[in-house]
Amino acid sequence: MRDPSRRRVLVTGGAGFLGSHLCEKLLAAGKEVLCVDNFYTGTKDNLKSAMGEPLFELMRHDVTFPLYVEVDEIYNLACPASPVHYQFDPVQTTKTSVHGAINMLGLAKRVKAKIFQASTSEVYGDPTVHPQKENYWGHVNPVGSRSCYDEGKRCAETLFFDYRRQHNLPIKVARIFNTYGPRMHPNDGRVVSNFIVQALQGKPITVYGKGRQTRSFCYVSDLIDGIVRLMKSDDDFTGPVNLGNPHECTVQELAELIIELCGSPSRIVFEPLPSDDPARRCPDITLAKAMLGWQPKVPLREGLERTIEYFDGLLSGSRKTRPARSRENIPLPPP
Ligand SMILES: NC(=O)c1ccc[n+]([C@@H]2O[C@H](COP(=O)([O-])OP(=O)(O)OC[C@H]3O[C@@H](n4cnc5c(N)ncnc54)[C@H](O)[C@@H]3O)[C@@H](O)[C@H]2O)c1
Repeated sequence: MRDPSRRRVLVTGGAGFLGSHLCEKLLAAGKEVLCVDNFYTGTKDNLKSAMGEPLFELMRHDVTFPLYVEVDEIYNLACPASPVHYQFDPVQTTKTSVHGAINMLGLAKRVKAKIFQASTSEVYGDPTVHPQKENYWGHVNPVGSRSCYDEGKRCAETLFFDYRRQHNLPIKVARIFNTYGPRMHPNDGRVVSNFIVQALQGKPITVYGKGRQTRSFCYVSDLIDGIVRLMKSDDDFTGPVNLGNPHECTVQELAELIIELCGSPSRIVFEPLPSDDPARRCPDITLAKAMLGWQPKVPLREGLERTIEYFDGLLSGSRKTRPARSRENIPLPPP
């Protein structure tokens, strides 16, 4: 018999980079965790430690189809997050965000569960305001190659707030900015993983444009802490709330730091900028600080060291990952 006082938590996209860290954090807090994933970009390898836990259950399911389970809380993270993965099958990406949100919100309404949505800084598009506050409505191209992700996530936010207004559902929406750490996929085309893999292999580091575009990088443990705090916050606080690291660095500075930390002979090469690549992206986290008492703690150098150690193990074969079928043979894209 299960303990009825124990919270049952559903994590969609739980086999992915962020989802697997979230599952571990929730298990450590004594929650019963049901992880749902279709393994589009996630892998069972990411869940190796969670799978040893008696309170953990894994279910293969695609969130674009309805799900009937009994849970108290839902964290909706299912969606490919890197451009190379979400542009591979853009129609499926929009369906995952929109149909996935409809199905998970429907489930939350039926079982009266609190529901979290992993939204993204991409809802701000190529911002004309810096840093971005939550009240900025964004500057998004509705017909570009990134639109499946950006507009899908914007529509999901709309659905969350309409379920709140129409059905009084307890919702929590976080706009997540660039996050990095162990379990990022080496071929996901994100700038941190690209640079680390290239540096560890002694290959040229490809910087797009002049490398002066800025990014801000949040270490995964900080981000997961923010998500959990948001879920625990008062029901009146719905978000959207930015979660990310406001410390900005240029892409060139990042490349140089990674070369130094890897002790790599790699040199930097410059290539043309991809379309719709934002020039600057930086969160204003005043709201998260005030409402959640949250701010990132792990400095970039320290987070990169831990991430490099992970990729080093991965590349030298001490940690084996099995690539998801759908992303095999996808070439490295621009970050
Ligand atoms: N990592 C970041 O920097 C970042 C930034 C902003 C937002 N986010 C959001 O956070 C969430 C998790 O991102 P991540 O970095 O862990 O990405 P990820 O690709 O590692 O994880 C996504 C997971 O969702 C699963 N998935 C995809 N489509 C699905 C479907 N239709 N049904 C069931 N499962 C499905 C994948 O198999 C994978 O396990 C995503 O919603 C993403 O948009 C991430």
